[in-house]
Amino acid sequence: MRVWPAPKGLHIEPARPTDAVPLADLHKASFFRGWSADEFATFMQDKNVSCLVASNPRHQLAGLALTRHTGDEAELLSIAVARRWRSKGVGKALMEAVLADLAFTPAKRLVLEVDRDNKSALALYESLAFSRVGTRPGYYAGADGQRATALVLRLELG
Ligand SMILES: CC(C)(COP(=O)(O)OP(=O)(O)OC[C@H]1O[C@@H](n2cnc3c(N)ncnc32)[C@H](O)[C@@H]1OP(=O)(O)O)[C@@H](O)C(=O)NCCC(=O)NCCS
Repeated sequence: MRVWPAPKGLHIEPARPTDAVPLADLHKASFFRGWSADEFATFMQDKNVSCLVASNPRHQLAGLALTRHTGDEAELLSIAVARRWRSKGVGKALMEAVLADLAFTPAKRLVLEVDRDNKSALALYESLAFSRVGTRPGYYAGADGQRATALVLRLELG
């Protein structure tokens, strides 16, 4: 059973096919370019993609983490925690569940991109011992029309 603990009475589990709309709502509330329910439905049909959610016992979603693995590399496609649940350890619990779940795949490392100005996300990844391995100038489009630099982070999986 793929269920992991999370703070505040939440738990982490795989998303359900019926979650596509709430996943899109959660994602749109966190990112300038939100993904649609159709995009989430497509991700959930991909056997190489794992979509984990933080939810309460009534399956109301507080967070999501989407990972794709190909061969020995996995990529964190997205992670988001609903605003009212942030800074309570939910993001960390999601990342720990991602890492536990990847143990069942051939992945040997997890990579991700993060806006170099995204302090909370960087704090989260650095608390998990990710290393900075590159930069991608102009990688993100922002609401203000400016382009932001992404840092590429990597974690070797044990
Ligand atoms: C990034 C995000 C997922 C973190 O989730 P969260 O539930 O708030 O994070 P947590 O409460 O689990 O905190 C994890 C670590 O980050 C630190 N942290 C969290 N928010 C922080 C902030 N605003 N400033 C500095 N550090 C912060 C915590 O202290 C904690 O470190 P610790 O375990 O060493 O104490 C959340 O802020 C979010 O959804 N942001 C919008 C979407 C986004 O930017 N996603 C990342 C894209 S790469």
